[in-house]
Amino acid sequence: MNIVVVFANPKPQCFTRDVCNLFCEEATRRGHTVVLRDLYAMNFNPVASAEDIVGNLKGAVAPDVRVEQELLDRADVVAFIHPIWWVDRPAILKGYVDRVFALGYAYGYSANKERGGLQGKRAILITSAGSPDSHFHESGKMEAIRIAQDVGTMEFCGMEMLGHVHFGPVGRRSSQAMIDGYHQKIRDFVRDKL
Ligand SMILES: Cc1cc2nc3c(=O)[nH]c(=O)nc-3n(C[C@H](O)[C@H](O)[C@H](O)COP(=O)(O)O)c2cc1C
Repeated sequence: MNIVVVFANPKPQCFTRDVCNLFCEEATRRGHTVVLRDLYAMNFNPVASAEDIVGNLKGAVAPDVRVEQELLDRADVVAFIHPIWWVDRPAILKGYVDRVFALGYAYGYSANKERGGLQGKRAILITSAGSPDSHFHESGKMEAIRIAQDVGTMEFCGMEMLGHVHFGPVGRRSSQAMIDGYHQKIRDFVRDKL
């Protein structure tokens, strides 16, 4: 399968980068073709302009957005990997969605887009947070993230969710044994889902 991985974390060494590398290595080892879009390394422009929003409807798509859309066109699976920042995506990734998952491309009101322009593709989310899982579930934060991303972005654009793997706590409250367990969960996920 063709897999596009969209990664958002500026830190050269961090948990989500390790997980992203592990995911890409495991998927490649199993014979899949992986294209990594490291948004900070690409210096991706995340600010949707009036030209972006109006232009998309007229077929005047910015060249950098066109590159991303053409990669998505060829993808069977799209994986977003990122830390949770303020119960949300890092802004650079939110901006990628604003610009690339555009009206008329990823969703729209015409007959062929009414169930989403990315139909036939499957989506994966891999996220991490500093807070423990129990806090995320009890406070409703996990459900808020799920509604915004799994439902409000991926499924809204017609993709079927293959899975959302969330890790917490990551950071001061996580031990090496916990991190090892998280890494094993990624290997198992790739083995079972891809
Ligand atoms: C700007 C910023 C906002 C954050 N917001 C949250 C948050 O809302 N909830 C939470 O549990 N952790 C939050 N964190 C902690 C990160 O989610 C955590 O450090 C990260 O998942 C660890 O992965 P990493 O090593 O790949 O960065 C935030 C961290 C930063 C830098």
